[in-house]
Amino acid sequence: MKQKIVILTGAGISAESGIQTFRGAGGLWEGHRIEDVASPDGWRRDKELVLNFYNLRRAQLLTVKPNTAHEALVDLEKNYDVTVITQNVDDLHERAGSSNILHLHGELLKVRSSLDESLVYEWRKDLVTGDKCERGSQLRPHIVWFGETVPMIEPAQRISAEADIFIVIGTSLVVYPAAGLLHFAPDHSRKFLIDPHADELSASVPNLRIIRASATKGVPELVKMLMDA
Ligand code: APR
Repeated sequence: MKQKIVILTGAGISAESGIQTFRGAGGLWEGHRIEDVASPDGWRRDKELVLNFYNLRRAQLLTVKPNTAHEALVDLEKNYDVTVITQNVDDLHERAGSSNILHLHGELLKVRSSLDESLVYEWRKDLVTGDKCERGSQLRPHIVWFGETVPMIEPAQRISAEADIFIVIGTSLVVYPAAGLLHFAPDHSRKFLIDPHADELSASVPNLRIIRASATKGVPELVKMLMDA
């Protein structure tokens, strides 16, 4: 039976594709307070602002491409049973060709009814006020906002608990519950954290190796090592 690899990715894996991270200097949120553009309150206060914010991000996503880090992760599927758990709302893992992807924080290229969250639609153009679901309610971005529950966290925790190898790439690990997934990986599993600015976590996480490198350098190297093993 193949070993299970679980990969948790954050904004850092897409940085070298040209999508800005959230918390870096010049980060995406600059000019916008998070609670204005990514919270249910912000949505209630000013739908136009929120829609425009995500419209810009959606339009930009359509101009960028997966990088060698997204692509290298696909190679692992030849030898391992791989699940990618991503906090990213982009579709770069899909476009690179990963088979099992779980989006914790939603997807930019989908929208949903604000009345019935099971009504989800593919969406590539701008979303504007007046765009309605089939039950007549305003469509909203299919994004998990601050203060909202994270419906995919339970499957993500279950999968993490089965990992033989757990790889974390490009996340500041400050947003919960996603940041806690690393602690669901079994103590005996081998763990890797690839991030140029990784904090010293090794004391609290057993078997963790920190690789302080950018994703496009660190990920292909780690994948090669795991494929040669
Ligand atoms: N390669 C790898 N990592 C990188 C690179 C790179 N080229 N450039 C930056 N990073 C790292 C940064 O050092 C940082 O630790 O990526 C991380 C990005 O952190 P954040 O901007 O906080 O993004 P993320 O952890 O994905 O945010 C989590 O917060 O705003 C919410 O819902 C949003 O999913 C998001 C969540």
